[in-house]
Amino acid sequence: MSTARGKIPTMRLDRLLANLGYGSRREAQALVAAALVTLDGETVAKADLHVPVTPDLQRRMLIEGVPLDPPPPLILIMHKPLGVVCSHREPGRSVYALLPPRWARRDPAISTIGRLDKETSGLLLMTDDGGLLHRIISPKADIAKRYLVTLECSLRGNEADIFASGNMLIEGEAKPLLPASLEVIAPTLCWLTIREGRYHQVRSMFEATGNHVIALHRDRIGGLDLPEDMAAGAYRILTDVELGLVMDRR
Ligand code: URA
Repeated sequence: MSTARGKIPTMRLDRLLANLGYGSRREAQALVAAALVTLDGETVAKADLHVPVTPDLQRRMLIEGVPLDPPPPLILIMHKPLGVVCSHREPGRSVYALLPPRWARRDPAISTIGRLDKETSGLLLMTDDGGLLHRIISPKADIAKRYLVTLECSLRGNEADIFASGNMLIEGEAKPLLPASLEVIAPTLCWLTIREGRYHQVRSMFEATGNHVIALHRDRIGGLDLPEDMAAGAYRILTDVELGLVMDRR
């Protein structure tokens, strides 16, 4: 993408379309040659046209009569359903399969911002913006994540103190966990808010107290709640206001 100080970033149309997953550059050139690409209502004649890569391009450009896919940077909010994995490497259906197939061919690629286990549901963020991803998952960001935890056995009563202590160790880790906060809802139901994202952290914390997590759901990141009207499996573009809430540490 060519940029100059103070100028709008531009990119060659064939490259932009290829990066958005519409096909190879040659296939993108063929779309233009077949008069299937319009900008501001006019057919685009040349695939080497430099187009401004701004959020409104999506409204201004049509491909085969359909608005262009959102250009980068793309930030998504998803209600992750149970039973899907967050990694390309893990076996099984992944959260990426819930997105339009063309988005799997985007460059830069879309990644999850942190991961939820296969059997955890709830608020998941995804982005193609590597800088943003690191800003959110970095321990320095200190962003809280809240989980609704259903337990096999009743809480004993000392878990809140253990989790808040800042010196709890979980199996296989030498570094103590940062203080976490527990709010009891019922003997086998609670909220747990953690400020880091170690592997299977919530499950391991309860295992360490002799209990077992039977259901786990993340409903909040920073100050952003999973919208109540968002069905499991649904996703959409995160608004700027919502991104501001994510960065709010709470
Ligand atoms: N902690 C876990 O144990 N699992 C998750 O999916 C998220 C946090």
